[in-house]
Amino acid sequence: MVGLSRKGGPVALKIAIPKETAEFERRVAATPDTIKKLVALGCAVSVEAGAGGGASFPDEAYKTAGATIAKTAEEACAGADIVLKVQGCSAVELKSLKSKKGGNTLLIGILNPYGSEVSASDYAEAGIDAFAMELVPRITRAQSMDVLSSQSNLAGYKAVLDAAEQFTRAFPMMMTAAGTIAPAKIFVMGAGVAGLQAIATAKRLGAVVSATDVRPAAKEQVASLGASFIAVEDEEFKAAETAGGYAKEMSKEYQAKQAALVEAHIAKQDIVITTALIPGRPAPKLVSEAMVKSMRPGSVVVDLAVESGGNCALSKPGEIVVKDGVKIVGHRNVPSRLSTDASALYARNLLSLLGLLIENGELKVNWDDDIVKGVALTRGGQVIHPNFAEKKEPPKKAAEKATE
Ligand code: NAI
Repeated sequence: MVGLSRKGGPVALKIAIPKETAEFERRVAATPDTIKKLVALGCAVSVEAGAGGGASFPDEAYKTAGATIAKTAEEACAGADIVLKVQGCSAVELKSLKSKKGGNTLLIGILNPYGSEVSASDYAEAGIDAFAMELVPRITRAQSMDVLSSQSNLAGYKAVLDAAEQFTRAFPMMMTAAGTIAPAKIFVMGAGVAGLQAIATAKRLGAVVSATDVRPAAKEQVASLGASFIAVEDEEFKAAETAGGYAKEMSKEYQAKQAALVEAHIAKQDIVITTALIPGRPAPKLVSEAMVKSMRPGSVVVDLAVESGGNCALSKPGEIVVKDGVKIVGHRNVPSRLSTDASALYARNLLSLLGLLIENGELKVNWDDDIVKGVALTRGGQVIHPNFAEKKEPPKKAAEKATE
């Protein structure tokens, strides 16, 4: 979208990085490193003052990288062709984007179209072309754009450290003159990206690790990390993986068999880390109150799925619940607890997608590209993503929403 300035020279593509406003969000959508690369691509980048503060990237570093620092989000986004965010817009942010640009802004972020305050049709109505990064298809070409992987990997690592912080014992076996300390037993439920990193981290810290999943492919991956695999391996298990590599929601019968199997196992564990998710559905309930009760006092459950409804019946978002001496940890937005690394990886995911969208300093979106088709929620005032187009809500003005 390179236009002409008043003097006739080309106007660079403008990219804006506002400060995130969501609660518990310390990440930022660009780092000084990615800004250097965006400037090299011919873009003018405007960063809201303090946008990188929560991730330890000072304004000065952005300036040195070639960005201009804007006093407010509105100033940063004024006339922007592309707005890069971590989370989707609040109703207030959406209003300011709309009023400043009057349409045609491309917004890229983890927009959470299944459950956020601002829906796909709100973006369409505001004239914003909205791209949801969590919908990047899991194909080889898009691996460098895969935000679910980059963020879940860090979350899996941090979950183990969060467990260690709450646990009043050591992880590795220690043989000392004063006696032997037994290694901690850790059970990881859900062996996707987060779960596999949790297994690797727990192993590195010296724990005895076991894991479960409903996808057969997970069995080998768990074993390759040196953990034991525990699962109900029936016919349903053999068909539990979708073509996209995700888990299906399991039948009530399977869930009952799974609960019976893990019940006895959990009673012998010191730490349970749950990471099980099903895209677009509430997280499966895997750890019941009775299972928590069966654990020894001092045991810890870390529920990484707490914001998707929780894998543990007792977990609460943002809280550490203590029940019969067992701590159930439900931190919100775990990637944001490692905000510097999470931002750096996320910013590189965005840069990789932008490499596909920007050519010779111009925004050239190939709407037929499979990656674009995967992420594009809206285009030119319409919801175009097949998962959301049919669920179009009745028009509701963003301005009205902002005042609600
Ligand atoms: P996820 O975050 O959607 O779910 C986490 C894990 O929970 C998954 O392994 C899932 O099978 C498991 N789960 C769901 N319901 C369960 C239940 N009732 N009991 C036990 N476990 C349950 O999954 P994530 O981490 O995004 O990974 C899904 C798959 O995608 C994996 O096979 C991963 O290796 C693959 N993947 C492929 C990529 C690519 O090809 N570019 C990139 C990243 C991941």
